[in-house]
Amino acid sequence: MEKFDYQNHKIIRGDSLDILSNEISDHSVDLVFADPPYNIGKSFNGHKDKWNTEEDYLNWCCQWIDKCIDKLKSNGSMYIMTSTQFMPYFDIFIRKRMTILSRLIWYYDSSGVQAKNYYGSMYEPILFCVNNPDNYTFNAQDILVEAKTGAKRKLIDYRKNPPQVYNSEKVPGNVWEFARVRYRMDEYENHPAQKPIALLQRIIKASSNVGDTILDPFAGTFTTSYAAKLLGRKSIGIELQEDYIKIGLRRLKLTDEYKGEKLQKELRTFETKKTRTQNQSLLKLLEK
Ligand SMILES: C[S@@+](CC[C@H](N)C(=O)[O-])C[C@H]1O[C@@H](n2cnc3c(N)ncnc32)[C@H](O)[C@@H]1O
Repeated sequence: MEKFDYQNHKIIRGDSLDILSNEISDHSVDLVFADPPYNIGKSFNGHKDKWNTEEDYLNWCCQWIDKCIDKLKSNGSMYIMTSTQFMPYFDIFIRKRMTILSRLIWYYDSSGVQAKNYYGSMYEPILFCVNNPDNYTFNAQDILVEAKTGAKRKLIDYRKNPPQVYNSEKVPGNVWEFARVRYRMDEYENHPAQKPIALLQRIIKASSNVGDTILDPFAGTFTTSYAAKLLGRKSIGIELQEDYIKIGLRRLKLTDEYKGEKLQKELRTFETKKTRTQNQSLLKLLEK
């Protein structure tokens, strides 16, 4: 176990079951975002995301899900992801313990990977669950999106007296469209399952307040911690792989060095040092 504790942002290297059991106090976290391995055979830095049987995978998931729930405050929320084939099991397990308020679809265009003999995968499911449906954070005003009926079509609601133009903004529905993180995008890191910053920003803005603590037990490239920092929240990220810990330390600008190694983002095939500097300036603008 290795722990990097920078006051508002903790990065912990280790097995999440162990860390959740021994390092994080119960009822201390406002929001959990859990994006575990999906048991579909991806390689995380050489470690295959595949259990011997589906039952083994689900047994493991039930253990860490229970631990995550223990960490939440009584008014806390959890967003949880897995592959489409395992989400029904998660749903049944979690709804005995929490209230599932939304079953979200993260939809993306995956025109690069087109299935020919069946219907290709265009979405990933996310459950939005709360401990107490009568007391939870939901900052609707901070995540409003355009409501086309009012904003574009300018339709009038004649049921109102006097008739009124429809609202031009609304709370997003349960299908969210965000581009997947691609190799050429500035936020890209060398990881097979990196989630977009925009997805985490919506979740964090909606379900936490400034100063709240957000826990990610499978941090990967530390997108959750990165978005939490941008939004003035505290974060705890747990990750098994050293290479991804280095990404987290660099991405959150917590340190320049790890075990004597200077932490630098790898240049991608199309990049030169000059274009890298320009891209970093653009990212800084985003961080403001
Ligand atoms: C789906 S990825 C998370 C991606 C992350 N949300 C992001 O935006 O980069 C799952 C991560 O869990 C890590 N992992 C797998 N088993 C773990 C364990 N037992 N404890 C901690 N991390 C683990 C993997 O190394 C991988 O980086």
